[in-house]
Amino acid sequence: MENHAEALALLDFLKTAPTPWHAVDGIARMLDAAGYTALREADPWSLAPGGRYYVTRNLSSVIAFTLPEDAPSGFLIAAAHSDSPTFKVKAVPELTAVGRYTQLDTEPYGGMIMSSWLDRPLSVAGRLLVRGEGRLETRLARCDQDLCVIPNVAIHMNREVNTGYAWKANVDLMPLWGSERAGGSFLRTVAEAAGVDPERIAGHDLYLYNRVPGCVWGVEGAYLSAGRLDDLECAWAAARAFAGAAAPGHVNVLCVFDNEEVGSSTRQGADGSFLLDVLTRIADAEGGSARLPRMLSGSVMVSADNAHAVHPNHPEYSDPVNRVWMNEGVVIKHNARQKYTTDAVTCGLFSEICRGAGVPVQHFANRSDLPGGSTLGNLSGRHVSIPAVDIGLAQLSMHSAWETAGTADVPLMIRGLRAFWETPLVPDGDGDYRIG
Ligand code: CO
Repeated sequence: MENHAEALALLDFLKTAPTPWHAVDGIARMLDAAGYTALREADPWSLAPGGRYYVTRNLSSVIAFTLPEDAPSGFLIAAAHSDSPTFKVKAVPELTAVGRYTQLDTEPYGGMIMSSWLDRPLSVAGRLLVRGEGRLETRLARCDQDLCVIPNVAIHMNREVNTGYAWKANVDLMPLWGSERAGGSFLRTVAEAAGVDPERIAGHDLYLYNRVPGCVWGVEGAYLSAGRLDDLECAWAAARAFAGAAAPGHVNVLCVFDNEEVGSSTRQGADGSFLLDVLTRIADAEGGSARLPRMLSGSVMVSADNAHAVHPNHPEYSDPVNRVWMNEGVVIKHNARQKYTTDAVTCGLFSEICRGAGVPVQHFANRSDLPGGSTLGNLSGRHVSIPAVDIGLAQLSMHSAWETAGTADVPLMIRGLRAFWETPLVPDGDGDYRIG
């Protein structure tokens, strides 16, 4: 039942996290509850030994850190991402179709399985920029209501739908919002959900989301399904592990970055300066920025993003032996071209930590002719060059509006990351470590 408790807590979090802004807001609340102090990038920071802090950028990425009582040897960093594939509503949000319908004008955000978004109730959430008296304010908006559907064409009219249909974002995927009489109601509806005057909306980043609550399912309760498991499953598990973890001798760092699904190269993305900026300020507080290179040489990063479980109908897409299963533990990802950052050193370190914590690990590599996806690890590595390992949890249907993962894996990721942060880890030569 322990397994289910963590899985159900994850599903509760997912309900409140339809967008990166809401996910980061939820993680900030977890950190507040655990006694972390919110910092602002624009302010001077005075950091105390043993202090616990977090800072957001764009309100859609967050970095939290726990300082040890003594001078830290380095940083133990775990990173996950806050965004998932969806549809973004354009600046001019509505259009009239065939004189009778009001549609939303949207475009894809990230690489989704398009067909999974059709014929299901969808809602809208995101952030608004609101005009106040002499100021502009950001407000989060979440319409907790079924508001639109992307309707399929009947099979009688499109006989190709089951034989490989090419979905066109500007034709097939436009959500139906209402009748022609619903014209002009979109921003009003969002404004009402955010408790603001629609006349005062000066800008918006609004996205569709699948608001069907996730569930644990199957006679054994072995699986859980929901939208946005990639990567909020890892982001939430990492936050859960981090908030309770002690920092014996190094700085614990939790990063949840936005924009991984669109290449990470934004101000708040993993390919921006956010992480380096925060680590530099911590090193400054620990005796000057000259300490940064020394601290980085004693650091390790874990990039946590979900992995592909062997598919029951299509096992041939997986590598013959470097394949992973749901409910069989934390996945370590390998790639010869270093699209995953894992190497012998970081694989060894992370597996050894998991072994000590009683957490099973399994090894994943893409089938040798398949390129696989991108991750946070090597992007962050361009700015902060430290040894890194790519990990994740095994799941099915990645980038569907309804993804599936293993119920028992949720507590294993929490335990593995907790052990990572709580293990004293000191470099003892290039590629040698004193551990524990
Ligand atoms: Co991902």
